[in-house]
Amino acid sequence: MNIPSHIFTIFGASGDLTRRKILPAFYHLFAGGMIGPDCIIVGAGRKKMTDEEFRELTLEALLEAGLDGGEGAAKWCTGCVFYQCLGEGSPEDYGRLGERLDELENAHNIPGNRIFYLALPPDAFPSVIGNIGEAGLSGSAGWSRLVIEKPFGRDLESAMKLNDHVHRWFDEDSIYRIDHYLGKETVQNLLVFRFANAMFESVWNRDRIDHIQITVAESLGVERRAGYYDAAGAVRDMIQNHIAQLLTLITMEVPAAFEAGSIMQEKIKILRSIMPIRPENIVLGQYDAGKIDGKEVPGFLEEDGISAGSATPTFAAVRLYIDTWRWKGTPIYIRTGKRMPAKTTQIVVVFERPPVCFFQTIEGCALRSNVLNITLQPDESFTLSFDVKKPGEPFTLEPHDFHFSYADAFGRLPDAYETLLLDIMTGDQTLFVHADEVEASWKLFEPAIDPDLPVARYAAGTWGPGKAAELLIRDGHSWSVRKGR
Ligand SMILES: NC(=O)c1ccc[n+]([C@@H]2O[C@H](COP(=O)([O-])OP(=O)(O)OC[C@H]3O[C@@H](n4cnc5c(N)ncnc54)[C@H](OP(=O)(O)O)[C@@H]3O)[C@@H](O)[C@H]2O)c1
Repeated sequence: MNIPSHIFTIFGASGDLTRRKILPAFYHLFAGGMIGPDCIIVGAGRKKMTDEEFRELTLEALLEAGLDGGEGAAKWCTGCVFYQCLGEGSPEDYGRLGERLDELENAHNIPGNRIFYLALPPDAFPSVIGNIGEAGLSGSAGWSRLVIEKPFGRDLESAMKLNDHVHRWFDEDSIYRIDHYLGKETVQNLLVFRFANAMFESVWNRDRIDHIQITVAESLGVERRAGYYDAAGAVRDMIQNHIAQLLTLITMEVPAAFEAGSIMQEKIKILRSIMPIRPENIVLGQYDAGKIDGKEVPGFLEEDGISAGSATPTFAAVRLYIDTWRWKGTPIYIRTGKRMPAKTTQIVVVFERPPVCFFQTIEGCALRSNVLNITLQPDESFTLSFDVKKPGEPFTLEPHDFHFSYADAFGRLPDAYETLLLDIMTGDQTLFVHADEVEASWKLFEPAIDPDLPVARYAAGTWGPGKAAELLIRDGHSWSVRKGR
């Protein structure tokens, strides 16, 4: 792969995301020969650090990520990793960053190609984008790209405002809004599964599919991100972005071509075709103390850093209907929550049952649906359930599975950030979120962030409030998750 030489400036270089994801992914690409020593990192932040101190932090991050932090990594750090303090973020501070980028470009013979990665808390996005723009850092001789982490805005109005702000300095085709779910191999494989296998595409509609479920469950609580999470909650943190992406990929029409613009158009069409969400189709919840894996865990309100009496939902379930020829009348149920019994992301496609029970004379024979389970984490796999005759007498049916496991077939999968970093470097926007898409998603899910909605209680270690189960029971369905191996 031919990766153009560039400087990759990380704003928020001392932070959690940089340490856990960006630095290990960058080094993994270097060690694997995907990028060369002419791809330079400049860490930037308010924290005072020398180049040497940032290199030490980088080596620690590599070790923590289980990578070899030995001689090769140290040599890479010395040649390719630098740090620039931004102080209080004054125009002079950003002017000095510009001078540093110019110097490094001259020293490493880099033709002004610049990536600015905002690994920052969302409330810092506007000021840092403004500072980059005002200081003219994006107006270099080569190309400039801006990478923005999620969440992009906290509602439709703020997302539109942020889009306007970013567009003052960056064109849409140089903006990379990250939703790291899109970097996961299994999420990209949804496109292959649907559009390279005619067998499934021909049954992918309201006539053959009874309903679809998407579950994104975490067993952890808020951990070190209490401040952020308390202000965000489950809908902003998971549904508006990650689940919206899964929902569009699993339901969109066949794009005209395998390229960013065509895929984005189809995703936006789906978001705009979903019927407005009514309050009775939304269930919010907040966890109380409970047990996970036999261990006592505190309730949300007892977690460090959560404001007293907070009504922030840590669970959300929504029933949706897509108003298109393909999906009219097929319910789509989505849910996400913290402190669930397991960490898992699954899409469950439940097919229509046979119209007539051919085996109705057999005692105990139930009409079962075929179910396709797409597990995106932790055990990336596809499982299709079907009935077989159990050998011998009496004549009995038993459900079994076709199972495909990514790990069995391919071993280690690249981390989502490795994929996304390479795409940013090559200028491929297929796996990134367009301004119109982010706004369409906020518009759709605004009813679910209404602060007047009731927030039910659930015990940590359960699958959420009872009302979330009722959402499906009303339709004769029930939530389904596959246990990992
Ligand atoms: N952490 C994750 O696992 C994760 C996963 C997915 C997405 N994200 C997203 O990635 C972004 C970064 O997350 P993070 O967990 O790395 O954040 P973080 O650790 O809280 O902050 C990153 C860095 O940003 C700088 N910073 C903090 N407040 C600032 C402010 N008001 N103005 C300017 N700089 C500020 C700090 O460095 P200085 O003090 O040196 O400036 C800090 O070290 C967020 O948008 C988050 O939603 C994170």
